[in-house]
Amino acid sequence: MIALSSLLLLGGLSLSHALALPKYASRVNARAVNTTSYDFIIAGGGGAGLSIADRLTEDPNINVLVIEAGPFDKGDDSVEIPGAWNPLPYAWPNLTTEPLTALNNREEIVVCAKVVGGGSVINAMNLLRATVADYDAWATLTDDDSYSWDAVQPYFIKSENFTEPEAEYAAENNITWVDNLRGYEGPVRYTYANFGYPGQGNWYSAATSVGIKPVEDPATGKNAGIFWVPVALDPDDLTRCSARCNHYDRVSDSRPNYHVIDSTRVSKILFNGTQAVGVEYLVSADGEVSQAFASKEVLVSAGATHTPQLLQLSGIGPKALLDQFGIPVVVDLPGVGQNFQDHSSVNILYNFTDVVTPNSGSLITNETFNAEQLAAYQNLESSAYTIIRGLGSVFTTVSYRDVFGDDNTVLDEAKARDPAASLPEGTDPTVIAGYEAQRNILLEQMDNRDMAVAVMAFDTFAGVMVSQVKPFSRGSINIKSTNTFDEPAMDFRTATDPIDIPTYVAIIKKLRQIMAAPDMAAMGPIEAFPLLGVQSDEEIAAALRASLAPSSAHQCCSAAMLPLEHGGVVDSNRKVYGTTNLRVIDISAFPMALSGGPMDNIYGISEKVADDIKKDYYSY
Ligand SMILES: Cc1cc2nc3c(=O)[nH]c(=O)nc-3n(C[C@H](O)[C@H](O)[C@H](O)COP(=O)(O)OP(=O)(O)OC[C@H]3O[C@@H](n4cnc5c(N)ncnc54)[C@H](O)[C@@H]3O)c2cc1C
Ligand SMILES: *[C@@H]1O[C@H](CO)[C@@H](O)[C@H](O)[C@H]1NC(C)=O
Ligand SMILES: *[C@@H]1O[C@H](CO)[C@@H](O)[C@H](O)[C@H]1NC(C)=O
Ligand SMILES: *[C@@H]1O[C@H](CO)[C@@H](O)[C@H](O)[C@H]1NC(C)=O
Ligand SMILES: *[C@@H]1O[C@H](CO)[C@@H](O)[C@H](O)[C@H]1NC(C)=O
Ligand SMILES: *[C@@H]1O[C@H](CO)[C@@H](O)[C@H](O)[C@H]1NC(C)=O
Ligand SMILES: *[C@@H]1O[C@H](CO)[C@@H](O)[C@H](O)[C@H]1NC(C)=O
Ligand SMILES: *[C@@H]1O[C@H](CO)[C@@H](O)[C@H](O)[C@H]1NC(C)=O
Repeated sequence: MIALSSLLLLGGLSLSHALALPKYASRVNARAVNTTSYDFIIAGGGGAGLSIADRLTEDPNINVLVIEAGPFDKGDDSVEIPGAWNPLPYAWPNLTTEPLTALNNREEIVVCAKVVGGGSVINAMNLLRATVADYDAWATLTDDDSYSWDAVQPYFIKSENFTEPEAEYAAENNITWVDNLRGYEGPVRYTYANFGYPGQGNWYSAATSVGIKPVEDPATGKNAGIFWVPVALDPDDLTRCSARCNHYDRVSDSRPNYHVIDSTRVSKILFNGTQAVGVEYLVSADGEVSQAFASKEVLVSAGATHTPQLLQLSGIGPKALLDQFGIPVVVDLPGVGQNFQDHSSVNILYNFTDVVTPNSGSLITNETFNAEQLAAYQNLESSAYTIIRGLGSVFTTVSYRDVFGDDNTVLDEAKARDPAASLPEGTDPTVIAGYEAQRNILLEQMDNRDMAVAVMAFDTFAGVMVSQVKPFSRGSINIKSTNTFDEPAMDFRTATDPIDIPTYVAIIKKLRQIMAAPDMAAMGPIEAFPLLGVQSDEEIAAALRASLAPSSAHQCCSAAMLPLEHGGVVDSNRKVYGTTNLRVIDISAFPMALSGGPMDNIYGISEKVADDIKKDYYSY
């Protein structure tokens, strides 16, 4: 517990206010917030928000307030036990896309986290660094070498605490990694699921038989091939370790200077001129507002959907959009809400005539198996409950050359295309210039045999989730009204660029090769939705337009870290152009989608962002 003497050391906190802190020192209410002065206010307590709050509050003289729209999770099985996974209880309700013009004008529901810890509390727990090519591209795009692969690796190592699986189990299951690329002393606990379904062996052999190579360790920055996926699982009790677990619970008892107010939405950033001074937040759903002030900075971390919404509502955004809603312009920044990206996906379903059992469907179809696995899990033994429900433990990822070989037809068409033609009419010239810079890099990346353009995950009983991770299409997030509670227009513009569908078609054809290889053919796969009766490339393309999901909940890049003349919103220190004391610290600032899941990249890069902030304020 906190000693009185240490309370006296809290910079900016008067003793009487400090004593008013509730028992859980760091969980505060609006009344406590009203009487406390903060150095930093973080709007959005997701993966990035909590990681950075943790590092900033290492200095006991710095007070940080995190304001999070969602609640603290209740330790529900759906959160803690991978085999009981269900993201919906802590997702934003009813987030709907605009009509997706390249996907038959469908409007789709998308998932986005609303909980302390954000996506890390409800995600599929896959913890993967992106590739050398991804980070070297960021360095080029931002003209800042501190984002190169080599420069960011120490931050990944700093963030991680890897626990090795048992050697015999690893060898049996083809789990490999490179010791000195992994971190062992950091806050983010992770390991591998301690169970594999036998059908995974069939998939592994089939994939390698059609030329897909084992990846020694995706942490090498080369991820094209097949590998077991490291997961954010606490190796001691086999529960999820989210950002709440590793960047809040881990330290909250010893950090009276780290405050979180949950179930509370930031509605506006407050400015004095162009200097951010604090935030306005909604104390309750009926519109009662309060304010909190930051003597140093406001750090925006509301995720790629809500960060641009909050900036736009606060007068930072494209002038024409702000004018349309009568919002006074603080800074005219055309890039806010543009450059929106995600990993689209499709679940290719099969009927297997001779499926290998047990498989991930057995938890539902076989009560004996389910009871056996649950008991094993409770005894901390090898159990299917350490795997996210409905998923396998192996990723198969393919490069552009893996699926196209030396055929340059599609790539040449993409090279010949005017970048502006891939963006909506009327797009600001700076945003077009930024897209062109990304496109030139993407076209080079397509030649890189070490970088995946798609991920396939076989669930061992009914389907293969296929996800495109290096899209050329770009969408947008734009407010529809001045009401914080009205969700912004989410226009993913999935597959609007002409290269994305042909690339998907080639990926599906590679999947067909894997399914036709003897070890998978032995299970008797019969294509069901969406490939039932589908043969030609044109038919595959049509099936994809009818079935692609716009999102894997990897929304990003909508307040991009790019030069101002390239439609950027923040510089490479994450400072919002045209303002002082305001940064964007979350996935919105990624300039371009990464080859793989974002979570580990949020953890690693947040270590760098925290360091960059400290350099400006801390005297060590
Ligand atoms: C279902 C699901 C599965 C996923 N699977 C994986 C996976 O297996 N591997 C992987 O690498 N990645 C995965 N991801 C993605 C990953 O979790 C996210 O990319 C990551 O959490 C992004 O971190 P962030 O801090 O930028 O945003 P988030 O973690 O989304 O945090 C943003 C937070 O801001 C809050 N917020 C929004 N608006 C406001 C406001 N106005 N005021 C206050 N708070 C606000 C939100 O409630 C949210 O908690 C998945 C995500 C989901 C949802
Ligand atoms: C915070 O302080 C303001 C101004 O003193 C007051 O109007 C508001 O009601 C307070 N809010 C809470 C939740 O205490
Ligand atoms: C859900 O979204 C739809 C479409 O935007 C809207 O009509 C409906 O009112 C929303 N429902 C809730 C509960 O917010
Ligand atoms: C790393 O994780 C292991 C296993 O959970 C734990 O015993 C150890 O204390 C952790 N190390 C750090 C530095 O947190
Ligand atoms: C491990 O690799 C071998 C050799 O490629 C393969 O035959 C086997 O099926 C794989 N096993 C698993 C569990 O992936
Ligand atoms: C606003 O900024 C100006 C100029 O820096 C300063 O003089 C003034 O005191 C500030 N006002 C408030 C309310 O902080
Ligand atoms: C159900 O699971 C039990 C326990 O693992 C196993 O012995 C049995 O063969 C399974 N039944 C079927 C139909 O797969
Ligand atoms: C797959 O199996 C389901 C359920 O048995 C059946 O309804 C469907 O027609 C089958 N589809 C194909 C393509 O075999």
